[in-house]
Amino acid sequence: MSISIKSDADIEKLRIACRLASEVLDYITPYVKPGVTTEELDTLCHDYMVNVQGCIPAPLNYAPPGYTPYPKSICASVNHQICHGIPNVRPLKKGDIVNLDITTIKDGWHGDTSRTFIVGETSILAKRLVDVTYECMWLGIAQVKPGVRLGAVGAAIQKHAEKNGFSVVREFCGHGIGQVFHEEPQVLHYGKSSDGPMLQTGMTFTIEPMINAGRAAISELPDGWTIVTKDRSLSAQFEHTVRVTQTGVEVLTVSAGAPPCPPQVVLTP
Ligand code: MF3
Ligand code: CO
Ligand code: CO
Repeated sequence: MSISIKSDADIEKLRIACRLASEVLDYITPYVKPGVTTEELDTLCHDYMVNVQGCIPAPLNYAPPGYTPYPKSICASVNHQICHGIPNVRPLKKGDIVNLDITTIKDGWHGDTSRTFIVGETSILAKRLVDVTYECMWLGIAQVKPGVRLGAVGAAIQKHAEKNGFSVVREFCGHGIGQVFHEEPQVLHYGKSSDGPMLQTGMTFTIEPMINAGRAAISELPDGWTIVTKDRSLSAQFEHTVRVTQTGVEVLTVSAGAPPCPPQVVLTP
């Protein structure tokens, strides 16, 4: 098994799928308000992807080995839910944090991105967790360039999370992406910078740290999908799809409404 290298023509198609995924998040942002249900957000995103963008929502009926088919078109993970939350009829309330994770398929190529939204106003702790998680993602992205080991991404993320008193989820990681939703490599969000495969121009993968306010341990809900913190502490996540360029990194999941790279992080394009 090895990590696929995408051609310039492949990247052109991947870039389109990725921009569309980010535009779904732009589209849904004004709807993320107290009182809306995650099922309503799912329906809005589904209809936008299918009817406006001409995309397939990759999560719908997605069934990796050992899983039942995923029943919705987006993932919506609220508060202590870490990832893979199934949209439901519970209204969001002021102070909740909710991660919306969008994966589009356009012309056979996958674009995968997520943001954590604050519903109304929230606690100082929740705001700090969301901000630090966002910085973690970008610090990981900033490591990406040819000749560096993939472990540098996880090491940078872990350092920033733990410096701030938070913990990194170990059981779920970023992943290679292209015509396949989840492919090699596994992108750990912790570990040593000297570990992992050497990055090469044309590799494409996601960076999607899940950071907990409490301990790192997880539990799975009986629905077979939703992952929560074992100690029920808050968890946040952000995700971008990136490619290794000849000199550094290109973030593919960008759009007009995507929040910017934090000023303290400098990317080599
Ligand atoms: N989008 C998630 C990821 O970042 C995967 C969701 S799989 C689903 O890898 F079936 F839960 F949608
Ligand atoms: Co992903
Ligand atoms: Co995702």
